Amino acid sequence: MNESPPEFLAERVAVWAAQRLGFDPRTLRLDRLVEAAEKEIVRLGTLQDLVQALKAGDPGVEESLVAAATVGETYFFRQHEHFDLLNKLPLPDGPLNVWSAGCASGEEAYSLAAALRRQCSLDADSLTVWGTDINARALQKAREAAYGRWSWRQGSGPEWEGPTGLALDPGTRSCVRFARHNLLDEAVFDGRTGERFDLVFCRNVLVYFSPKAALQAIDRLRQCMKPGAWLVLGNMDLRMPPDGMARIGPAALCVYAKVADPAAQEAAPVRASAAPPRRPVPLAAAELDPVEWHRAVLAEMEAGSPQSGLAELEQLNRTFTDYLPGIFEHGLALRRVGRISEAASVLKVFLARAGGMNMGEILPGPEPISVEFYVNGARSFLESAGEQS
Ligand SMILES: C[S@@+](CC[C@H](N)C(=O)[O-])C[C@H]1O[C@@H](n2cnc3c(N)ncnc32)[C@H](O)[C@@H]1O
Repeated sequence: MNESPPEFLAERVAVWAAQRLGFDPRTLRLDRLVEAAEKEIVRLGTLQDLVQALKAGDPGVEESLVAAATVGETYFFRQHEHFDLLNKLPLPDGPLNVWSAGCASGEEAYSLAAALRRQCSLDADSLTVWGTDINARALQKAREAAYGRWSWRQGSGPEWEGPTGLALDPGTRSCVRFARHNLLDEAVFDGRTGERFDLVFCRNVLVYFSPKAALQAIDRLRQCMKPGAWLVLGNMDLRMPPDGMARIGPAALCVYAKVADPAAQEAAPVRASAAPPRRPVPLAAAELDPVEWHRAVLAEMEAGSPQSGLAELEQLNRTFTDYLPGIFEHGLALRRVGRISEAASVLKVFLARAGGMNMGEILPGPEPISVEFYVNGARSFLESAGEQS
């Protein structure tokens, strides 16, 4: 083989991350992964020993590589719009069974328990929240539940603030359990199989996955969801809405309900989209409404025309230079077609433009959404792409 050992090592660990974690090589933090692998080689002896250990699924070796490859960014009530929506969640007759999939150090799982107890008036016996992650070290932190102020940044609204806040009261803690689980595998971590979850949060995880692995993970999630259960994703996680699910609320929220019969998806009562958006009449640019134009581009892309949607978005942004949702959408659209570095540049422009704005301001767009929501989305993409925001 012509390759030098460092290249061989980089290639081996990238392949491992793709196969074992589902990671897209374009979002992989290869330098960190290679560094961790080099430390393991020193410990084990040779590169061949490392390769063997990875093949055999050695837990110690996997643990250090997983810790290097994954991004554990999270905080309490991140994207609080998702938590605000929970009082609309259809409740089952029996206990509510919830899964925070890719929970990192646990803030999301505890936030869910706190929000559901409070907003749906559930007592601790009628609620179970499972937090799972592939990173065993993050789960250790989650079980310890010793959080500093940093975990309370941004996502916590005033009513949730405080170092001994609601999320950590004993009743809330008692509802939450943690287990190690790889989203590519069958979900048996709770000792059960089949459709059993009423609500699944899997946010800011699939953004790191290859499209194929993301679909595999979604299939695994869907298998565990009861008909009508909600799936909540981060706004960078999937290129298209998941099959067999109907959208709940604004598209940008990325909340979906599992439909019992996918063939009846269009007729599902929970589907929130109204009449299909109109394609704009090609008026002179000054007469067009950016929001209407934006809607039409979304419809075009949903109908399967991402390339022409991209061209339209560029035109929209050239015409309405102050229309920030258009810039954000352009970044998303570039990401969907795999143009990651261009997407990063566009989203950096977006962040620079949004920088001086009030985070709570609601921007007019296809759905009225806060500046904060867009900014969080742009930041999580840049983090996943290894870029500074
Ligand atoms: C950025 S954190 C998201 C945390 C939380 N969901 C949130 O949105 O705040 C992504 C998490 O996904 C986990 N993850 C990555 N690949 C995974 C996989 N194949 N199976 C399970 N978890 C995975 C990482 O370990 C990391 O903790």
